[in-house]
Amino acid sequence: MSRKAFIFDLDGVIVDTAKYHFLAWQKLAQELGIEFTPEHNEELKGVSRVRSLDIILALGHIEASQEDKNKWLIQKNEDYLSYLVDMDESEILPGVLPVLEFIKEKKQLIALGSASKNARPILEKTGILPFFDAIVDGNDVSNAKPDPEVFLRAAQLLHVSNENAIVFEDSVAGIQAANTANMISVGIGDATILHEAKYNFKDFTFMDLAFIEALID
Ligand code: BG6
Ligand code: MG
Repeated sequence: MSRKAFIFDLDGVIVDTAKYHFLAWQKLAQELGIEFTPEHNEELKGVSRVRSLDIILALGHIEASQEDKNKWLIQKNEDYLSYLVDMDESEILPGVLPVLEFIKEKKQLIALGSASKNARPILEKTGILPFFDAIVDGNDVSNAKPDPEVFLRAAQLLHVSNENAIVFEDSVAGIQAANTANMISVGIGDATILHEAKYNFKDFTFMDLAFIEALID
């Protein structure tokens, strides 16, 4: 039986950083006089930093110079990073560690497939870096989700076929990326928003380890 690759998104799946991305974007939007709500934020989940700024500027019908955009991208990232200074294992979302431990115990493979350029320090700070057999993040890919590049690269690095890869995602763009890659998509969050996923769980505490076991067999 071939081994399975379990590919985890980071923000909003492993750690509760989605709220920090939102707060940092909201601060910038406010400064630019743009109304930016949690509903708008759903469109930004899983999306690259550069693309996220373009979406926010479009909301406010603002056309900006590249210089201004670069300045705002730096500002947003600095605000975001300020929330991560004291980050430790307590920021790992409930139910994630037992699932990571179970997958390892079953000798299956684990990868990260994240759009974030801040992924590695987050894995280090939370102490879960050793779980990962491969890491693909925003520094490694040129096409952002919903393009499947990030997940395809992760499966390639693990020498696992796409059909044997399972993706955990909290974003619509990420679920679409997994589906396009012919991988098994598992939505983590609101099932009405993530209705394109093959399976849905509100969070990992709702996921029985038998679910993982069934995917392995
Ligand atoms: C994704 C987040 O994981 O990474 C997005 O869902 C974020 O909200 C994107 O914009 C890029 O992250 P970073 O850390 O490189 O700005
Ligand atoms: Mg996410």
